[in-house]
Amino acid sequence: MAEFAKCPMLAGDIDELLSIERLCFPTPWRREDFEHEVNNPAAYYVVLKTGGRIAAYGGMWLLPFAGHITNIAVHPEFRRQGLGKMLVRELLQRAQELSMRLVYLEVREHNAIAQSLYRQFGFRFAGVEQGYYPDSGEDAYIMVCENVLQVPKITLRRLENSDSAEYAILCENVSVGKVCLQTEGTVCRIADFSIDCTGEQDYGFPALEKIADYARQVLRAETLCAFVPKENRDLRELLTDFGFEAKENDRMEMRL
Ligand SMILES: CC(C)(COP(=O)(O)OP(=O)(O)OC[C@H]1O[C@@H](n2cnc3c(N)ncnc32)[C@H](O)[C@@H]1OP(=O)(O)O)[C@@H](O)C(=O)NCCC(=O)NCCS
Repeated sequence: MAEFAKCPMLAGDIDELLSIERLCFPTPWRREDFEHEVNNPAAYYVVLKTGGRIAAYGGMWLLPFAGHITNIAVHPEFRRQGLGKMLVRELLQRAQELSMRLVYLEVREHNAIAQSLYRQFGFRFAGVEQGYYPDSGEDAYIMVCENVLQVPKITLRRLENSDSAEYAILCENVSVGKVCLQTEGTVCRIADFSIDCTGEQDYGFPALEKIADYARQVLRAETLCAFVPKENRDLRELLTDFGFEAKENDRMEMRL
């Protein structure tokens, strides 16, 4: 998979953004909409680039206690590679850094793909704006994510006396799981991964975020992989939702 660089949205991007908008939306944003947003100090926009091209972009308004996601778009040539998730994750992380209580957005009632993307991050249906989209008369569903501040801060602590690289997964110094990370060349293998997903707080995604960051930054890995038997459906589902792809012989992997 190609590498994608996360960049701020700049005025020089606008021509390309306009052509992607036309491919993505029945009523695309106009040049003046983008010009306004790139200069809007109360907004945060990010662009994912690869090989000098814009593959995806998105952003939100920064309201006092909430983030309002205004735009998320992935160029049709780059869809289904996890870029939509990358954008939503980035916006939620920004909201978390800014101590926002919630993030919300409007989505077309028939846009099941985008709704399923948002649901994966804890967005829930919160209301309808009837006839919100004049081009089709469609309703807008308002979806809200209230977990922004609850994303737990996870750390990894290497266990001493362990031959293989075993780590305790900690949340505020309390153990919530463990993992073994075996590196070979640029591939980091996740083994013996166990995480508490049963209580009120689901640590699955935050733990994988931490593991992926650690593998990329500390272990210098370019790929994460795991061997998960088909019977272990919960773990396979968690890894798939996170962005892993199923390969042959129970192998699952993702590019970092
Ligand atoms: C919605 C959109 C941003 C998703 O981007 P993407 O990069 O293809 O999404 P990802 O690869 O990160 O996939 C994220 C999730 O979206 C859903 N999804 C994406 N494409 C899908 C498809 N063709 N069918 C069903 N679900 C799909 C899935 O839930 C997927 O998770 P999974 O891979 O674990 O199944 C993209 O389709 C798009 O730009 N659409 C047009 C613009 C738009 O609708 N923007 C949202 C406005 S509210």
